[in-house]
Formats: sequence, C-alpha cells, structure tokens
Amino acid sequence: MANNPYEISFTGNPFSYTINGYDLGTSQKYSWVEGLANCPKCAAEVTSSRFYCKECGYGKDKKTKPVKVTGYEYVINDEYEHGKYFRVADKSLFETVIIEPYKKQMIVEALSLVENSDLIFNQWGFKDTIEKGTGVSLLFHGLPGTGKTLMAQAVADYLGKKLITITAAEVMDKYVGETEKKIAELFDKHKEDVILFDECDSLLGSRERARASWEVSQVNVLLNKLENHRGVTVFTTNHSTNLDKALDRRIAVKVRFEMPSQELRKQIWRRMFPKKAPLAADIDWDLLASYEITGGYVKNTVLRAARIAAFRKETEITFTVLKEALKQELMALMEYENVEQAATAAQETPEKEQLKLHQNR
Ligand SMILES: Nc1ncnc2c1ncn2[C@@H]1O[C@H](COP(=O)(O)OP(=O)(O)O)[C@@H](O)[C@H]1O
Ligand SMILES: [Mg+2]
Repeated sequence: MANNPYEISFTGNPFSYTINGYDLGTSQKYSWVEGLANCPKCAAEVTSSRFYCKECGYGKDKKTKPVKVTGYEYVINDEYEHGKYFRVADKSLFETVIIEPYKKQMIVEALSLVENSDLIFNQWGFKDTIEKGTGVSLLFHGLPGTGKTLMAQAVADYLGKKLITITAAEVMDKYVGETEKKIAELFDKHKEDVILFDECDSLLGSRERARASWEVSQVNVLLNKLENHRGVTVFTTNHSTNLDKALDRRIAVKVRFEMPSQELRKQIWRRMFPKKAPLAADIDWDLLASYEITGGYVKNTVLRAARIAAFRKETEITFTVLKEALKQELMALMEYENVEQAATAAQETPEKEQLKLHQNR
C-alpha cells in the first residue's frame, strides 16, 4: 500500500475531510472530491461531486471514485490492495470520537506497533526475539451508544486500513467446527486489515465456563489466529465480559467507554453539527450537555431535529426544535426505563427537568 503523500485535514464536519485543500466528502467506504476532476480512464473532465464519468461510464458502479489531487489521479476505494489504488490514512474520524484524552492516548500508543512495525521489528530487530504477536488487539467495553463501534472505524481510518466487521450472527454456526473454520478463514483473508468483532461476547468468554467443547475450540482458534495477525483486531462488548484468561493476556489495551462527562457531552453535541448545517445562533450548549445521555442519543436527537426542521421547511435548525427533538428522544428512551419519569417528562420541558438518565445501563 502506497503511503499517502498528501495533507489530509479535518474540515470540522464529522463526515468530511480535505486532501490538499480539496473538500472530500466521505462515507464509510467511499471518498470523492468536489469540483473538477478528470476521469482516469478516458480523461474527460468530470464536475459533479459524487461523480462517475459521463463519457465512458467509469465509476458508475459506485465502487470507484476517481479523484484528482494536484495533478495526480487516484482512486480511493475498497480495492486498494490492487496497488493502483490506496486507502488514505485519515485521522479526522479519530478526532471526532469524544472520549477522555488519556484513553485516546492509550489507543494511539497501542497502534504505534502497527504504524511503526518496520522500525520496531526490522530496524530494531525485535522480530528476532518476538516471533509472534506483531499485531495489536484492542478491547472496547462499556455502555451501548458510547462510541465503541465508531472508534473501531476511527482506528481503521487512522491507520488507512480497511475495517472488516464480524458480528456474532455471521460467524457463529450451529454446526460443530464451522465457527472455527469461519474465524480462521477471516483472519487468512484479511491479514493486514482491522478486524472488528462487534458485540461478540460469546466468542470472548472464558474457556473454563464454556458449556460445550465447541466453544472451547472456538476460543483456541481465535487465540491462535490473533497471535499471527499482523493487523489490528478490535473486540467490542456492552458487558464487562468474563474474558478468557489467555485472550485477556493478548489484548494490548482495554478501554472502558463510559457515560461521557458534561464537558465531553458538550463536545459531542457540537461535533454532531456539520459546518454546512443551518444551525441557529442561540443554541444553549450547556443546557443540552446537562442531560445525561450517551453520544448515541445525542446523535439520534440531532438527526431527529434535522428531519423535523427539514419537514417543516425551516430555514434554520432552531434551539426550540432541538429541545423538542430532545424531549421526544428522552420520552422514547424512558418508556423502557421508568413510566413515571416518562409521564413527568411529558409535562415538563427539558429546561425544567435535569434528568439523570441511563446510568449504568
Ligand atoms: N464518544 C462519542 N463521540 C462522538 N460520537 C459518539 C460517541 N459515542 C457515540 N457517538 C455517536 O453515537 C453513534 C453510535 O455510537 P456507537 O459507536 O454505535 O456506540 P456503541 O458501539 O458503543 O454502542 C456514533 O455513530 C456517533 O454518532
Ligand atoms: Mg456498537
């Protein structure tokens, strides 16, 4: 994979960044440049933002996005391993995940093993003494909606690697031996990638407590594959799982994702609004941040406010609409928690109620 020689900078919008001053939008998978570019295949000029070449149809399959950066043409897409393409290391998403700075520090220090693997293993010669364990495994555990899955994507972007997400449903097979086979195949296929086991609690459990022998062999296969993986493996769980001891030892850092503090919540609220969004000037961020909710609920609220504003053809996303969206979100949330609280909230406006929500859920 070629190193990216370009300056990547964050534009302030969680969903976009720039390369050498070109404003790139990015979905999780694809990137594109706004404005002028030339088709890499037929060199015709293409001007629309999410473009494909109208002359020859290149890029129409939506997998390829031709991007022209100061005279060079690159295609940033999933097929970077073909050599012609590359994936850019992009630290902007990592910056937008709001957790305590020391936890971020722990993560980037762990990733340093992968980033500096040539220095560490070849130049410093650690490959002679440490034959296995050149990859890094991370565990993100804690409350739902606190950014664990988001951080996994951010880690992949940070390293300029592809994220391969594995859910329990995909890998668990009722037939004995099939789960192990699938795990082994995954690691073999994605040697350099970031492999995410998202909410795969059943895979992580202690072997002593495993009921069936197939659970034991699953963990064994996983351990073996982890040791030989050169990329990054991320495990997320909403529970503080009783981790298998041998697995526990192989995890470089464990990061607990908690209910964000008021200060962090304020940052999450602010970061959720893209630069282009027509946000009213009178937003009381402190009031919004006083609600004890996770980033997941902040995201839901902001999206709700945006759709209400769009539906009503408002020219701005006002504080009033935001509060309305927050109230609806809190009510929906509380229906699962406490009927009385929901009833109170129905009468009260958000300013009056300082709700302590969602504690240690
Ligand atoms: N710490 C955070 N910083 C920024 N955004 C967050 C954070 N936590 C949650 N979010 C928002 O909530 C969404 C859902 O979070 P997610 O990563 O799926 O949580 P989890 O995997 O812990 O359940 C994210 O995509 C993001 O928009
Ligand atoms: Mg998740």
